[in-house]
Amino acid sequence: MSERLADRDGAPNEALITLYEVWARSGAGLLVTGNVMVDRRAIGERGNVIVEDDRHARALAAWAQAAKSGGASVWAQINHPGRQAPRDANRGSVAPSAVPLAGAGRLAFSRPRALEAREIEEIVDRFGRTAAALVSAGFDGVQIHAAHGYLINQFLSPLTNRRDDAWGGDPDRRRRFLLEIVRRVRSGVGPRVAVGVKLNSADFQRGGFTEDESMAVVEALEAERIDLLEVSGGTYETATMFSEPSASTRAREAFFLEYAEKVRRRVKTPILLTGGFRSRAGMDAALGSSAIDVVGLARPLAVEPDLPARLLRGDAQRAADVRLPPIGDKRLDAAIQAGFYQTQIRRIASGLEPDRSLGRLASLYRFLAPLPVPRPGAADRGARVGAPPAPTVP
Ligand SMILES: Cc1cc2nc3c(=O)[nH]c(=O)nc-3n(C[C@H](O)[C@H](O)[C@H](O)COP(=O)(O)O)c2cc1C
Repeated sequence: MSERLADRDGAPNEALITLYEVWARSGAGLLVTGNVMVDRRAIGERGNVIVEDDRHARALAAWAQAAKSGGASVWAQINHPGRQAPRDANRGSVAPSAVPLAGAGRLAFSRPRALEAREIEEIVDRFGRTAAALVSAGFDGVQIHAAHGYLINQFLSPLTNRRDDAWGGDPDRRRRFLLEIVRRVRSGVGPRVAVGVKLNSADFQRGGFTEDESMAVVEALEAERIDLLEVSGGTYETATMFSEPSASTRAREAFFLEYAEKVRRRVKTPILLTGGFRSRAGMDAALGSSAIDVVGLARPLAVEPDLPARLLRGDAQRAADVRLPPIGDKRLDAAIQAGFYQTQIRRIASGLEPDRSLGRLASLYRFLAPLPVPRPGAADRGARVGAPPAPTVP
């Protein structure tokens, strides 16, 4: 989950270290960071970590070390937002084609400029450089973010990629950007480091990236020998990754399980499924059906940072209930969710317990005006987590 805690230069800091020290003891076997930006001119949110070269090497090493301090592996997720680069954090935005977000999205996001072919090559290089810098700082792997409507997803979708050159025009050319990035990242980190991809099953938009195209991408990724495929879905326009599941999904918990089952029949790539898992029984059933290899948890880790350990020990049967009943407007509901969970992440990062009593209105307000991160030790109404003192980042 995007932490939004980095300093103004995009460097990891004490808050990120405290957060990952807590998650290091969560019981999770693999921690995947929130999205790290490959270009400071194009960021997903204020407070994202930005890695363009080795300038943050020591702070990155301290962050990786904190995440690994409990024995888990840590991968950094790397991303470029493309047209999902908010106005308040960027000067303009770029995309495969000059297609703006629909509807209310236009308020927060500017109309993107279409990338020139030489700029596309340059972004592919950036992914390789960012991955190499992260791995030399101590990360065990990287995950390329090709989902949720960000730049790589924009190249995959015929709605946002209207090019008719080497980077668009048919499914093969639309997926070329992702495949070139996978190759560049692999050559940047070497054969022994894990490279994963987070991919949408579909964008859930008429005329968008379909399940059939997604399957063809999955097969191409298998041919590139990626180490782990994470399955997700939706974009900022549809927000499927957070939405209330349908009745049939509720019965099986995970949002994209049926799609994962289809993927399993097509490729041998290990599959990580994130989205909706809340009970030990649901996770056991998904793993038992052999459709997936790894259960991913996001939001539950922000309210119960030790949940995986308790589930694995059998001390907990399910994640705590979080009552944020939807208002009915998908974008507003997504903003409330983001505000609620980002507030919890900020609390953990400052050594405090999460606060599940935060309501919808307060969450929305926090989304618009995130709290400053209190210094560890600062007075707060909540109880402190038993986190060790945060080390000083050089
Ligand atoms: C506050 C917040 C930040 C998120 N940031 C990211 C991100 O940086 N990268 C990403 O791939 N997904 C991100 N997600 C989506 C989650 O990784 C996950 O796909 C989604 O929350 C569904 O899983 P869950 O039901 O276990 O929460 C974020 C979710 C939340 C709530």
